Amino acid sequence: MKIAFFSTRSYDREYFERENKQAQHHIQYLEVQLDEESAPLAKGYEAVCLFVNDRVNAAVAQQLAIAGVRLIALRCAGYNHVDIAAAERCGLTVVRVPAYSPHAVAEHTVALILTLNRKTHRAYNRVREGNFALENLMGFDLFGKTVGVVGTGKIGKVFAQITMGFGCRVLGFDPFPDAELAAAGVQYVSLEELLQRSHIVSLHCPLTEATHHLINADSLRLMRPGAMLINTGRGALINTQAVIQALKSGHLGYLGLDVYEQEEGLFFHDFSHEIIQDDLIARLMTFPNVLITSHQAFFTHEAMTQIARITLQNATAFERQLPLENAVRLSE
Ligand code: NAI
Repeated sequence: MKIAFFSTRSYDREYFERENKQAQHHIQYLEVQLDEESAPLAKGYEAVCLFVNDRVNAAVAQQLAIAGVRLIALRCAGYNHVDIAAAERCGLTVVRVPAYSPHAVAEHTVALILTLNRKTHRAYNRVREGNFALENLMGFDLFGKTVGVVGTGKIGKVFAQITMGFGCRVLGFDPFPDAELAAAGVQYVSLEELLQRSHIVSLHCPLTEATHHLINADSLRLMRPGAMLINTGRGALINTQAVIQALKSGHLGYLGLDVYEQEEGLFFHDFSHEIIQDDLIARLMTFPNVLITSHQAFFTHEAMTQIARITLQNATAFERQLPLENAVRLSE
């Protein structure tokens, strides 16, 4: 099958080439992000393969269909960046990789928490400069603290299990509570109660209309003074302006982000020699108690291997008209 890959980087090529030895698809790797301008590049391809910041709105879906595309293969789990209704109207099938390694994301979440708490990034720099002082490196024990997990699906569940290993008390909020977690001691409560009681709040729910700006001025006010907020879900779960205000006032104690509302066009690129035009992220970067990584929580060898394998399997299943277990349909 002829597939045009958008937003590709060197590591995509490496992992997909390896897996494609078996799948034998004809892949064209494009660096450009998919949008209305770049959509015509899909002409002559039956499928496009997209990542988290390639947007498919109604106009792009129409252009893809006109170009002859029939399949949108997402090489990620989230599909909030694709207008599924518009894709269906245009006769485009959408497939995704619903699970590749929940451990990759959950473990990165823990990395953000431990780094923010114990300030290992600052300690590393200090020691390299010959500064062995401990002032301002004070952390807190995770043992005994309350961790609130918003969304206890595949990733949230692994994260909850890891934090229980630290001896944390875990609160969960999810419209579909997980029986195994509940049996293991996770206490399901309302979102309000979770925010009020947690020392650390970690977001693992999908971005939907219902969860857009789930964390806003009101919800931030509910949080404990000095609490830590971690987002490895999707950027728009948080209202960035509101979170900046909460950091400035000192009410929010720590913020760890792997995703950012305006990450499109910024994350995955090197701007180290340019002026950052986004004033919100520039402000966030000035806080000593904020840690930002650029959507790298998924980025492990195991996860990339699975992403490449499942994406190509999805394409093969579509080509052979086999049942599509990873299709995203409007009813989902
Ligand atoms: P999942 O579908 O297994 O779990 C999501 C959970 O959120 C479900 O249990 C669902 O019931 C719950 N949920 C739905 N609406 C909710 C609401 N309003 N409030 C609280 N919970 C709600 O998904 P998975 O695999 O755990 O992934 C979660 C999210 O993590 C994805 O949607 C994606 O946006 C993000 N993600 C981020 C990555 C990264 O590299 N930073 C990589 C992979 C996923």
